[in-house]
Amino acid sequence: MITCSAPGKVYLFGEHAVVYGYSAICCAIDLRTRVQVEISDTTIIESSLGITGPDLQTHPYITRVIEKMQDLADIKGVHIKIESEIPVGSGLGSSAAVTIASIQALNELFSCKLGLEDIAIIGHDVERQVQGNASPTDTYVSTMGGVVMIPERKKLNALDCSIVVGNTGKFSSTKELVANVARLRDEFPDIIDPILTSIGDMSHIAEEHVNNGDYSTIGKLMNVNQGLLDAIGVGGAELSALVYAARSTGAYSAKITGAGGGGCIVALAENNDAENIAQAIRDTGAEAIITRNTHKGVRLES
Ligand code: MEV
Repeated sequence: MITCSAPGKVYLFGEHAVVYGYSAICCAIDLRTRVQVEISDTTIIESSLGITGPDLQTHPYITRVIEKMQDLADIKGVHIKIESEIPVGSGLGSSAAVTIASIQALNELFSCKLGLEDIAIIGHDVERQVQGNASPTDTYVSTMGGVVMIPERKKLNALDCSIVVGNTGKFSSTKELVANVARLRDEFPDIIDPILTSIGDMSHIAEEHVNNGDYSTIGKLMNVNQGLLDAIGVGGAELSALVYAARSTGAYSAKITGAGGGGCIVALAENNDAENIAQAIRDTGAEAIITRNTHKGVRLES
């Protein structure tokens, strides 16, 4: 039996703009998905969503991973069991983490000799097949860990502050939100294109501040990014309530992470302030998790 795990992520900058090729900065977080695999007579996929065979409705990512890995190995039957600390459909990269951990687990079980870059590429293909227009960000950061700039695939210095995640608990469909932004851009290209360009520019300006650990400047820029995400229509009252709860209790920054619409916000904070910020988020009725940046990407656990 093989167990592999991969981390979730938050976007510091650049969600949505990255779909159009602009730069984003993404940070792996210390919440992981673990995938256990062993050879079996038939294929069984077991998760909190249910126990199925290959099934594009219940387990689309793992079903597509098995199909892809069948091109590389003679997989007749495999029992795959998933356990995750990452809330599903909340913008924290749960689908990328399960995809990447499954690819690595099957890679180990069937000795396919895939390297990390190969795993990230296959993972991105799987996300594209399931989601449509997916950028390589989530799958790349889940594979490599740390803080990465996409599409440059550049590793930046680790963040050494608390990361507070606020979860509205409202499911959001990345596919729908990406399509909404595309429609707005088609309708008002002269307005929306400069906003996406500004979001991309922000990642380049922020790069140096991330490398220097200048959280106060990173925070200012993240707050501007939040305004621009609101402008392209992916904000909402629930998200804004969490953003302002975090900012008013001393966060360096607070913004949507991921597709928006629902899902999560991310706040950067001094370690001493993290618990107060998490409590302020909980006081609005939402969930809060305090986590940190992790350098550990996908890995073999046993
Ligand atoms: C979703 O986590 C982030 C988006 O930029 C979509 C993507 O990058 O595939 C909205």
